[in-house]
Amino acid sequence: MKSSPHKKIIFICTAAALGGLLFGFDTAVISGTVEAVKRQFGMSVATEGWFVSSGLLGCILGVVVAGLISDALGRKKALLLSAVLFLLSGIVCAWAASVNGLVAGRLLGGLGVGIVSVAAPMYITEFAPSKSRGSMVALYQLAITIGIVMAYFSNALMLSLSEDVSSFPLFGSWLGNGQAWRGMFLVMVVPSLLYLLFIAMVPESPRWLIAKNRTDAALKILRSVREGDASSQEYQTIVSATETKKTSNRSVFSKAVRYPLFIGIMLAVFQQFCGINAIIYYGPKIFETAGLTTGSALQTQIVIGVVNVLFTLFAISQADKFGRRPLLLTGLAGIIVSLVVAGFCFYTGQTGGWLLVGCILLFVACFAFSLGPVTWILINEIFPTDLRVKAVSICTMAVWLSVWVIGQFFPLALSTIGPSGVFWCFAAISFLNLLFVLKLIKETKGQSLESVEMVYAGGH
Ligand code: BGC
Repeated sequence: MKSSPHKKIIFICTAAALGGLLFGFDTAVISGTVEAVKRQFGMSVATEGWFVSSGLLGCILGVVVAGLISDALGRKKALLLSAVLFLLSGIVCAWAASVNGLVAGRLLGGLGVGIVSVAAPMYITEFAPSKSRGSMVALYQLAITIGIVMAYFSNALMLSLSEDVSSFPLFGSWLGNGQAWRGMFLVMVVPSLLYLLFIAMVPESPRWLIAKNRTDAALKILRSVREGDASSQEYQTIVSATETKKTSNRSVFSKAVRYPLFIGIMLAVFQQFCGINAIIYYGPKIFETAGLTTGSALQTQIVIGVVNVLFTLFAISQADKFGRRPLLLTGLAGIIVSLVVAGFCFYTGQTGGWLLVGCILLFVACFAFSLGPVTWILINEIFPTDLRVKAVSICTMAVWLSVWVIGQFFPLALSTIGPSGVFWCFAAISFLNLLFVLKLIKETKGQSLESVEMVYAGGH
């Protein structure tokens, strides 16, 4: 039986979004492994730093690889490559006999994350119908948040399995002796295989095919994913936009693209400089200081993770109704209030109550329906197709470099200006972000990619 265009598009976008799950899983899994790996290989502080940051280095390289492959060989090939890299990473890390082996495995996984972070949201953006593009790209962000929570659960599961290896004679000698970390990495093989399978089943992006003159194949794919006449109209729009650009032969730094590039880079940097990753990863410590946890850091990680998932669902339902701009503005208002109040809790020493915990959860919730998904939605829709890959790669690179800067300087900032100072800095940057959105971000819901491109091309 032939499936309807609507069902097909849901399948295609969900399959690509699964890459987000691997992104989330890969970046979160490491938090549960560091202590055990350190013990097993007797790591120095420098080696530990190298082990933890090798994934991030892989991400940065992966963004470059994604840029080259998605343009030359297609978006689908880039996604396939990322699935293979995740698979290899899980296997290499699980069987690593030395720190070097582990670092090699982490680099492979990082490369996968870097590629996915460019190719998956871009592929979804190019496929999704205008009226549901926001929700479809938000699916990718939802998958990231689910991947993060899955990593926490699977780490906990591996840890408890390794405590009683007698019930697992086959894996006993392998997972026992404090080696649960091997299982934690190996789990990634399962979603990687699923991802490989799903991506093998989806078609290439029609926009890329048209750019490569493979117009018949593009039209055929468009017909299978659009209702009625919509496919021929969209086909014509893409073809004429592509023709105009072919003759202009412009670069990513040409005047017409400079302005959207500025917008995209600012969105990327602002997303990270609200402090999301510092809060996700240091949140449990903050909860502990607040004296509110009865159990392990894991429980608080899970609470934060689940709030992140739930409020991303809200973004999925609203990105194409309420719109990108209102989501950003409301979310930023909540982010600023929660950061300012959390800063006061630290400043006045009132860290032992529900107020601080409430602020952290409010912050995560507001991020989850605004900066989290909307950054990826906007970065992927504001550029013209001929330059999308290059421009999106530059913006995504800005995301990863910002992640690196925060990771390097957050602990230092905590010990110099203290938690209140850090929270207020994040609040001040988010306030600038609010002004930036008010002044420069235009609504793009419901518009075709070709018209969004025109919205930003003029520069005002
Ligand atoms: C960000 C990540 C962050 C995640 C949290 C993503 O959009 O790019 O840095 O860890 O959201 O949900």
